[in-house]
Amino acid sequence: MRKKVIAGNWKMNMLPNEAIQFIEEFSPLVKESNNEIILCMPYTDLFYGLLTAQGTNIKIGAQNMHFEDTGAYTGEISGKMLKSIGVEYVIIGHSERRQYFNETDETVNKKIKKAFENELRPIVCVGETLEQREEGKTEEIITKQTELALQGLTNEQVENTIIAYEPIWAIGTGKTATSDDANNSIKAIRSKISENYGQNVAQRVIIQYGGSVKGANARELFEMSDIDGGLVGGASLKPEEFAKIVNYNK
Ligand code: PGA
Repeated sequence: MRKKVIAGNWKMNMLPNEAIQFIEEFSPLVKESNNEIILCMPYTDLFYGLLTAQGTNIKIGAQNMHFEDTGAYTGEISGKMLKSIGVEYVIIGHSERRQYFNETDETVNKKIKKAFENELRPIVCVGETLEQREEGKTEEIITKQTELALQGLTNEQVENTIIAYEPIWAIGTGKTATSDDANNSIKAIRSKISENYGQNVAQRVIIQYGGSVKGANARELFEMSDIDGGLVGGASLKPEEFAKIVNYNK
């Protein structure tokens, strides 16, 4: 049985004092949960987040990293730096980074490899645009993105990658893929992984759904056969709402 992994993606929100307050309010609400809980926060919150989450069942992640350890890359943060302060997870290739910051399948692949070198667990985002969906290309796009993202990884690394299937048209729009649609897309990703890395790896890899997940729809989505939890944006900014999502099975 795959564990459910539920990650919040705060995006460019939350000051350190707000992050601390969030964790203080949120952690008692989810302390009984048997799901894996991750908060992916801005770089400036990470240190405070790590300290405040100590002794709780909440793990801390970043939202991006560079694909080199050090060097002349003004303004960038490396996986090695994240690891050095105790970060355990990192989102790679979110559609907003692909769209606004020229993230490509190639940089995504490099970053994932570097994340593993630094013992960070990557949460890798894939997803189709509305146009691609309307052209009937969803499966082709998301399986290709997955294939390129994972290229050159060992079976063990693939097994430890968390994939987040996030249809771009569902992000921040209030439109959610139907649970059947999301499940079918995730099945397609899993079967591509099975083709390339074998059935065992495919059965173990965590594949989340993301895109307007909220307390009211989490249960229906997460109870589907292939949806192993979620990557949650807007609804992860409020402790009570995010706790409802994490506690969907309570
Ligand atoms: P949303 O964002 O939950 O606000 O739609 C999800 C994401 O971008 O990861």
